[in-house]
Amino acid sequence: MTNSEIVTSLLASGDRQADLHRKAAELRDREFGKTVFVRGVVEVSNYCRENCSYCGMRRDNRSLSRFRLDFEPLLELLLNHRPASITDLNFQAGEDPIVVRELVIPLLRELRAHTNLGLSVCLGTLSERDYAALREAGASFYIIKLETGDPAHYRTMASPGNLDERLAAIRHLAVAGWDVSSGLIVGLPGQTPEMMAATIAMLRDLPLVGNSVSPFIPGNETLWPDHPAAPLDLAINAVATMRLLNPDRIIPAVSAMTLVGHRGYGRALAAGANLTTINLTPPGPRQNYLLYTRERNIMTEERIIREIADAGCVPSQVGLSTALSQRRACPAAA
Ligand code: 5AD
Repeated sequence: MTNSEIVTSLLASGDRQADLHRKAAELRDREFGKTVFVRGVVEVSNYCRENCSYCGMRRDNRSLSRFRLDFEPLLELLLNHRPASITDLNFQAGEDPIVVRELVIPLLRELRAHTNLGLSVCLGTLSERDYAALREAGASFYIIKLETGDPAHYRTMASPGNLDERLAAIRHLAVAGWDVSSGLIVGLPGQTPEMMAATIAMLRDLPLVGNSVSPFIPGNETLWPDHPAAPLDLAINAVATMRLLNPDRIIPAVSAMTLVGHRGYGRALAAGANLTTINLTPPGPRQNYLLYTRERNIMTEERIIREIADAGCVPSQVGLSTALSQRRACPAAA
């Protein structure tokens, strides 16, 4: 697909849009056989040294109370009280190297020793030593988003560091043996359809196993409180377009989609998404994990299972890393 064909795909409506979503779902089914991965997410810290203009956890937001979760109760929750359908966990935080060393690494070690869960992290741009320590502790999947792939727009958005650094981090992680996922926000202030298409083309060409799309949502404690939220159709079309470009990638349905339109989650699954997430952050701290607004649609296990069934799919019995290594060993049969 050329970039201008990607633009057309992002803006598709009516019959062409229905066609796009159907094709994407067929490709997902062909590659993954109607299975959807279920990953638990724990937001372990909202401290952040970055200052992304669109994010409520930006370091300049002095009014936010900051937290790091405690080790013992979290380990107990994850070992003994996690929802049964979860095959993978993702530890996510603002860019906070302290929580990486003090909490995430010891937690990964325990989980690696006592469970066969797939372990993912989404912790920002860190030092190569920190990446290596995370890998050695048992994580194998790194989520590191571009948000926007246009260098000038990246600067105006004040996204993490600079674009070249972010791209270098993605390449480094892939070479170091991580399964890497990246993605973008669609509908950011000042982002044209051409910029989104160029970002999607950039993601297509990177050494990734997963892609994601988040619809922009304005937050009061960001620089863009009055900018409109992204239309749901744009976000769903982006999911479907990514599925056409890289049929074998892991692409999540994200809960933010339920905030920008009707049936967002189900529509993402019907347009080729193949990963769902259950938020396991304890409710108190979760209130302060402020990406945009304090309203977030928290997806419970019950709701996730229903959405997967409504989309005619089934939850995967195996975790992401296992599924990915099976596919690598035997691509035709997997
Ligand atoms: N709208 C949508 N997504 C946002 N994120 C941060 N701020 C916003 C926003 N205003 C997303 C980014 C980040 C993820 C954790 O949340 O994609 O990677």
